[in-house]
Amino acid sequence: MKKSITYFENGGKENTEDLIACVKDRLKDSDIKYIAVASVSGESALKLSKSLKSLARFKDIKIINVTHHAGFKKDNELEISGEKRKELKNNGITTYLGSHALSGVGKGISKKFGGVTPVEIIAATLRIFSQGIKVCAEISIMLADAGLVPVDEKIIAIGGTGKGLDTAVILTPKNMTNVFDIKFHEILAMVK
Ligand SMILES: Cc1cc2nc3c(=O)[nH]c(=O)nc-3n(C[C@H](O)[C@H](O)[C@H](O)COP(=O)(O)O)c2cc1C
Repeated sequence: MKKSITYFENGGKENTEDLIACVKDRLKDSDIKYIAVASVSGESALKLSKSLKSLARFKDIKIINVTHHAGFKKDNELEISGEKRKELKNNGITTYLGSHALSGVGKGISKKFGGVTPVEIIAATLRIFSQGIKVCAEISIMLADAGLVPVDEKIIAIGGTGKGLDTAVILTPKNMTNVFDIKFHEILAMVK
């Protein structure tokens, strides 16, 4: 079997439109029903949804956006506005906020006591491939644990490097209790 992968020269926001085009292209030839996207501000998730609207089977596709948990940057603060969440909702996109699966309490422990926790080693190992690959795994666990994506079906997961989108994969999510059973099937695009 031969499949093509799009490689971006550098990570970041400038790849968002091209990344969305890759995802759209792959969706034409698949029956995937769930897309998990990491979009802190909600901007990239909206761009994705607007672009996919022209697909014949758009109504069968559920887009779920993951943003940072409260306090990621500043105590009590969310990085997505109420207005943007409303706009996402009006476009049929669910927004999920929750603890980050591949740092979580582990980050709190290493911050206080030093060293590194096993979950942070999993994150660092996935980052050997790229930031986006780690993000795709992480949001798929978070959404599986929230009951927002199935754990026995292929989904598309999309992430990026800090801002925007540059990575998309097809994977079967698993809950955090079965983290090593996550199955990556295809890389659609990543940073080289
Ligand atoms: C739960 C979560 C974890 C993330 N982890 C990382 C990370 O480890 N490294 C990274 O470069 N970006 C990370 N991001 C950023 C995303 O990959 C993506 O670039 C960003 O959410 C796009 O947001 P925007 O639409 O506001 O530009 C993370 C985002 C979320 C929501």
